[in-house]
Amino acid sequence: MKSKALYIIPFLLILILSFKKDNKGHLKTDKLPQLGKNSIDEVIKALTLEEKVRLVMGMGMFIPGLPEGMIPTMDSTDAGIPEKVLGAAGRTHAVPRLGIPSITLSDGPAGVRIAPIRNNDSTHTYYATAFPIGTLLASTWDTNLVQNMGEALGDEVKEYGIDVLLSPAMNIHRTTLGGRNFEYYSEDPLVSGSIAAAIVNGVQSKGVGTSVKHFVANNHEFNRFRMNVHVSERALREIYLKNFQIALQKCSPWTIMSSYNMVNGTYTSQNRALLDTFLRQESQFKGLVMSDWFGGKDAVAQMQAGNDLLMPGTLNQKMSIIQAVQTGKLSVKQLDENVKRVLELVVKSPTFKGYQYSNKPDLKQHAQVSRKVASEGMILLKNEATLPMNTVKKVALFGNFSYDLIAGGTGSGDVNKSYMISLDKGLVNANFVINPLLSETYKKYYAEGKAKLPPLLSPFHPHTAVAEMPIDEALAQKMALENDIAVLTIGKHSGEFLDRDLNKDFNLTSAEKALIENVAKAFHAQGKKVVVVLNIGGVIEIASWRDKVDAILLAWQGGLESGNAITDILKGTVNPSGKLATTFPMSYQDDPTAKSFPGKIIKTIPDKYLLADADLSEITYEEGIYVGYRYFNTFRIKPAFDFGFGLSYTTFRYSDLRLSTQVFKDKIKVNITITNTGKVAGKEVVQLYVSAPTHKIHKPERELKAFGKTKLLQPNEAQTFTFYVSPMDLASFNSSQSAWIADAGTYTLSIGNKGSSQTLKANFSLAKARVLNKTPKILLAQKQIDELK
Ligand code: BGC
Repeated sequence: MKSKALYIIPFLLILILSFKKDNKGHLKTDKLPQLGKNSIDEVIKALTLEEKVRLVMGMGMFIPGLPEGMIPTMDSTDAGIPEKVLGAAGRTHAVPRLGIPSITLSDGPAGVRIAPIRNNDSTHTYYATAFPIGTLLASTWDTNLVQNMGEALGDEVKEYGIDVLLSPAMNIHRTTLGGRNFEYYSEDPLVSGSIAAAIVNGVQSKGVGTSVKHFVANNHEFNRFRMNVHVSERALREIYLKNFQIALQKCSPWTIMSSYNMVNGTYTSQNRALLDTFLRQESQFKGLVMSDWFGGKDAVAQMQAGNDLLMPGTLNQKMSIIQAVQTGKLSVKQLDENVKRVLELVVKSPTFKGYQYSNKPDLKQHAQVSRKVASEGMILLKNEATLPMNTVKKVALFGNFSYDLIAGGTGSGDVNKSYMISLDKGLVNANFVINPLLSETYKKYYAEGKAKLPPLLSPFHPHTAVAEMPIDEALAQKMALENDIAVLTIGKHSGEFLDRDLNKDFNLTSAEKALIENVAKAFHAQGKKVVVVLNIGGVIEIASWRDKVDAILLAWQGGLESGNAITDILKGTVNPSGKLATTFPMSYQDDPTAKSFPGKIIKTIPDKYLLADADLSEITYEEGIYVGYRYFNTFRIKPAFDFGFGLSYTTFRYSDLRLSTQVFKDKIKVNITITNTGKVAGKEVVQLYVSAPTHKIHKPERELKAFGKTKLLQPNEAQTFTFYVSPMDLASFNSSQSAWIADAGTYTLSIGNKGSSQTLKANFSLAKARVLNKTPKILLAQKQIDELK
């Protein structure tokens, strides 16, 4: 023993002598560990408490007049680090002495949101491609196409020097009036999760990260910072967590963003059951969780919950974490875990790898990708022998938005694009002749109207629209005489911070109704057709006016090439193949969430800064699992347009539905053949639904379990699909047993959407109930929820 100690003492002496302090008081060895060269654990050991806390939060956001406490965390160490990407949403702190760089995070779902001009220098610009909004992407039902778009988007992220894109946004379309539904995908978890995964896989294939957001149940904007969502464990698991779980089975996002709201009494960013038990343990998520900007209330609880990075980072948060470690309230072990996940993210980043970005992404090529995706996600809702417009030439183009199409929504989902193709431009590009008198009248009226609009609440808030120009009978008749067809665009803005308004945004205004009425009357009197183009971000009321017009194209908001993409469909260059990923109800009252939306204020809180909507509020998801078509089908409420619906210029036959067995064991293989029976080439979306036996617990009438999209099928060409139905596809979440259970009995499999005349069905049976997945009892409701059954 003695001789061993003799060896150890000189060694320790040398070690102690080699330590010294640098001028900032950091303990320093001659050879400091460096991120990338040494292990992350070694780097963490060399970090001071202050440095660790800097790493778990961003540098802050500079907004004039920020109150104390929300002051950014930028300090003298950061002062030497120039802002890499102007207009990016945030960046992390660097620790240069340990080789840790700062990384940059930027929005968003429809394209890179950065400042297009730097230092007043317009000779070198930083414009980005405005891709179509999320709702349009989901309407393509084409994960390969969306992944291709993700690749183009990822390339732009990388070439502009950004490390993590704050996208995809994938909250469920729970309520018709949700202000950010345009960014989100669908009312159905499978569509939502599959499209989100396609984006992640596309973007990340370029070596940059994504942030899947907003986890979870942030389904509308009203009082989003202080909204307590009461939701049952079953609805959470079958709907709101399900889409995230599906995405995580199909991709590995570098990060996930927690949401602003509370779920059953706890902020999502402070909820360990959500972030650790559900995300990391049950769903095997391996990445970092960041907060939404200024989200949550208790920085220490956020660390403890596993919300590793606080964005954008405030001085208050910094002080409270330091203090919590010093008083033992927050363990160093926990903080180290959070830091570790930040460093694991940093080492993957292009910045860390020293990627030499060009600031010159291929915007031309990306615009073409944007146009293609846009035309594939537009949905033909009605067509009475009107489209494609291959025999008409002269177009009377009505509606303000025909001359100023909306590319996408506002807020963090906005994109600074260098141009926008309007519908008149798109039609002219395709050699249509736009009536000059009408076009000039509109442009003048619109310019004058815009000049008179009240100023925006902030550059982030949704735009106000200029009221539709009244078209008197004489003008309508003149146009009907002089032109071959009327094309009329109805546009609706939507954006972050505000939910949509029932009268302004969901129902048509009286000016819009009058426009449709007058134009239709005059054109029909001449035996000419009227096409309505819907340039909208969320669901609107259509049932009351659809009979007045001959064709309706739901064009959504298709990014910077929208005018060309709409024309591609109107002209027939592209055969429409988009299908609804969200139900269009007959009226707002038919929406099962109408009674509870937008929730109620339970306490008025004086802290109004930034969180102008900060009152403590709550909402109860009384409809439970009956969101979207799950409600309409089960309760037999006829919608205006069903989930999954969309017309084509051709027709398809569904045939040869074959199941590998009628008795379910481990899985069923399903084959189905789709044949193009029409005269032009086209694509079809194939939707597979399962109806489960309901004797144990109530269940939706049917649920989507698989889907696919054909290639471009030529007339008479056929394609056979193979789908697999797994045990989980049969299961529902049984709260009393805390388990996913597939009940014994007869199941019906159907292919084809509800509204289509072609639905093939087959039955199979499950002999004995199966308990598939026992889950820990977490996320329980705070109060008794009287759910719809
Ligand atoms: C939004 C996020 C966005 C973040 C950064 C927040 O207001 O909710 O979606 O990524 O700002 O801009």
